[in-house]
Amino acid sequence: MNRWQEMYRQKLASPEEIVRGIGSGAICASTCALGEPVALAQALAERVEREGLTGVTHHMLLTLQNLKYLEPGMDGKMNHVAWFTSGFARKAVQEGRADFMPCYYKDAPMFWRELVAADVFYATVSPMDKHGWFSFGVSASVGRAQLSRAKKVFLEVNEYMPRTHGSQFVHISEVDAICENNRPLVELKEAPLTEQDKTIGNYIAELIPDEATIQLGIGGMPNAVAQALRVKRDLGIHSEMFTEGMVDLIEAGVVTNRKKNIHAHKSVASFAAGSKRMYDFLNDNPGVEFHPIDYVNDPNIIGRHDNFVSINATLEVDLIGQACSESLGPSQFSGTGGQVDFVRGAGLSKGGKSFLAMYSTAKNDTISKIKPVLTEGSHVTCSKNDIDCVVTEYGVAKLKGKTASQRAKALIAIAHPKFREELTRAAQKLHLIP
Ligand code: COA
Repeated sequence: MNRWQEMYRQKLASPEEIVRGIGSGAICASTCALGEPVALAQALAERVEREGLTGVTHHMLLTLQNLKYLEPGMDGKMNHVAWFTSGFARKAVQEGRADFMPCYYKDAPMFWRELVAADVFYATVSPMDKHGWFSFGVSASVGRAQLSRAKKVFLEVNEYMPRTHGSQFVHISEVDAICENNRPLVELKEAPLTEQDKTIGNYIAELIPDEATIQLGIGGMPNAVAQALRVKRDLGIHSEMFTEGMVDLIEAGVVTNRKKNIHAHKSVASFAAGSKRMYDFLNDNPGVEFHPIDYVNDPNIIGRHDNFVSINATLEVDLIGQACSESLGPSQFSGTGGQVDFVRGAGLSKGGKSFLAMYSTAKNDTISKIKPVLTEGSHVTCSKNDIDCVVTEYGVAKLKGKTASQRAKALIAIAHPKFREELTRAAQKLHLIP
């Protein structure tokens, strides 16, 4: 047994033993998505309830597991702070039982270093190597920043967490205690692609040149784009999230990363969530590097790639080009994530473009997602000054470089036909068009 293995043995404990050291009022920070330490967070929530602790907060971005701290009745005892609301955390945030942290994803590490200090940092990591290092696996975005000021560092080792390459590791000497919890990672279910998804995917793919570097966001539409990209050559990947469609593009030889100006021959990402097939693909794969989010999402780094194309989804766009991608009215739905980071980065890239995609309508064609003004209370994600192209199943509206009046006309042209007249009248009332 070498020195690091001996240290590992000494620090090994059960989740229940570890959380005994966390008291009322503790600020606990977990890494994003699949990096959440499930056994520790659950043991903590149980201890909080059993022993009557109060004011414990559990910060994380994109909760993919439904744990006890999200249950009604836990507010005031153990409060979740969502940095991006997922399906599981959404209800708690919308009902005021959980809190929400507005931020650009690229700024999250800075928040942890300068604005919000964690008492406890905890994360799921892959097993330790012989040199004493654990990989942050598919959750490399914020961990190092979160632990930089934490008073206690706890790791949950899971042999199913892929050991990923790149820059994000934590050493046994930095850790206070470790537990083991070997359980398969949650898999995201892919919704089948609709005809609208395919149409939108094809519109966008037509505008992506060979040798472009791409970022794909969260949701069904980015996967439709990935499918439509199968006819391209020598694409590169630089994306906050590594997605299922990217595995197909790499395996099909469409993504080679050969033409990237930086990180040539490597796909670059900061976190991943998908299927077991994807997790197996990422395990010990030197072709994919994981780096922290303040690097991957830095618009200046993104902008160093020529022909950078960013593709994300949105919920509502008004006639001047403000996009709400994270709330339905005032009700928080998701978060800003890296959308704006990538829209701005693509704007700095030579030949770069960004697309915000959505169906033209919601709720069985009863609501137009192109609106004269955003629904009252909507959170503006992408400002009119940053937005580039908006895509629906009726086409692409290029907004950047267009006047307010030209924007209104371009957007009305890709609205659902049944709403175009109404939108035109509204645009006239707003003096956007004569
Ligand atoms: N008015 C009313 N309802 C609307 C609506 C609108 N303008 N827009 C969408 N909806 C409804 C949909 O009909 C759907 O309802 P359903 O669940 O009953 O079918 C629901 O709201 C969700 O909309 P949908 O378009 O399916 O959302 P999605 O799961 O594909 O997610 C975003 C889309 C925009 C929320 C998501 O991509 C996001 O959070 N983006 C911001 C962050 C980001 O882009 N990060 C980038 C890198 S990962």
